[in-house]
Amino acid sequence: MSKFVAKPANSFSGHLKVPGDKSISHRSIMLGSLANGITKISGFLEGEDALSTLKAFQAMGVKIERNGDNVTIYGVGLNGLKKPLAPLNLGNSGTSIRLISGILAAQTFASELCGDESLSKRPMSRVINPLTKMGAVIESNDGKLPLKIKGGQILKGIHYDLPVASAQVKSCVLLAGLYAQGETCIKETAPTRDHTERMLKGLGYKVGVNRNKICLTGGAQLSAFAIQVPSDISSAAFFMVAASIAPKADITLTGVNINPTRTGVIDILKLMGANLSLSNKREIGGELLADIRIQSARLKGIHIPENLVPLAIDELPVIFIAASCAKGETILTGAKELRVKESDRIQVMADGLNILSIENEVLEDGIKIQGGVFLKPNVAIKSHHDHRISMSFAIASLRCHHDIEIEGVDNVKTSFPNFVELANFSGMNITEI
Ligand code: S3P
Repeated sequence: MSKFVAKPANSFSGHLKVPGDKSISHRSIMLGSLANGITKISGFLEGEDALSTLKAFQAMGVKIERNGDNVTIYGVGLNGLKKPLAPLNLGNSGTSIRLISGILAAQTFASELCGDESLSKRPMSRVINPLTKMGAVIESNDGKLPLKIKGGQILKGIHYDLPVASAQVKSCVLLAGLYAQGETCIKETAPTRDHTERMLKGLGYKVGVNRNKICLTGGAQLSAFAIQVPSDISSAAFFMVAASIAPKADITLTGVNINPTRTGVIDILKLMGANLSLSNKREIGGELLADIRIQSARLKGIHIPENLVPLAIDELPVIFIAASCAKGETILTGAKELRVKESDRIQVMADGLNILSIENEVLEDGIKIQGGVFLKPNVAIKSHHDHRISMSFAIASLRCHHDIEIEGVDNVKTSFPNFVELANFSGMNITEI
């Protein structure tokens, strides 16, 4: 099991470009494969999760060539996928498995989906339920993996009120809706990332968006086009918090996706008093980008507004590190979804904060954190093989006066393969052993 040893560091500066957005990379492979024609992707995330999606479509007969972060997909059209010869293993990737099940539910062939230990513990009934309503036949292990999808079913469009704020569930149903008879509509309880809707429109598919309701009608076609993947704000978030908590820091992150369904971390850090500014705003391929400059700041504790939670869902672990360095108390509520991510991110973060002597109280749907000082830990922090937990605690080393060890960091490569390289380039001192 690999671990990080993070030594104290006190400078943090530079101009950086973090890797491509994970959510957009997944969708570019899926929709490029289902389009008619050749899709060229640049800035693709070369992380294990996005590669799991890429390999799954190759296993379904799609020719996909990759040269670093440039990918060429020879689309097979909506009905051109072939039955994979073996079960599709999606590794650690919830986005791959949940979105691909929407596509597979509508195929003429049967398929089986599985994943690693963490993915095998995560709830799948959230996608099985709406797909079953559409007419799919899916067997599972009591709502968990593996999923056995019967295939050969004619799906019909449904009107579905999302029971949880989840872009994965929304996207799964929309993708199944591409194949369904009639109209499929989703109603969201809160806005979630809308990359699927944006990319479908970019590939010429008609998607109606009216406030919290998204509708499409099955039976049309997707036309290939070029996709430029912007930098992932979820990866940028580690560096935003790092620069906020480190003394005398000044960092600029270039070309970051600032899709308004993803910018909760910016709003939360600003409410905490972060010194953060956006420049060079531009639109590329239906997504908004900006350069983000962050300098050191004295953060203060806040009650995180619940409406920002779905807009910052993946960034909350590193926001806990910001809260640990802030003056006063930070309260998070309305974030129960954190318990069903790659780990139970509320409990696992609380356990790590305890090891660093940060006072906190776990709530069913959140946490209360008292800002303080990271004291010398007696034991290693356990990441539970969750990439975002590993990186969050590595960032804490910018405010430590002693080494910290984080165990189980292997999965950092699922979303941010060059994290250590970029962190050390900016002045941190992390070794992976
Ligand atoms: C994602 C949606 C979110 C997020 C995940 C990526 C997506 O999951 O946490 O990392 O690309 O659609 P939920 O839909 O479970 O909130």
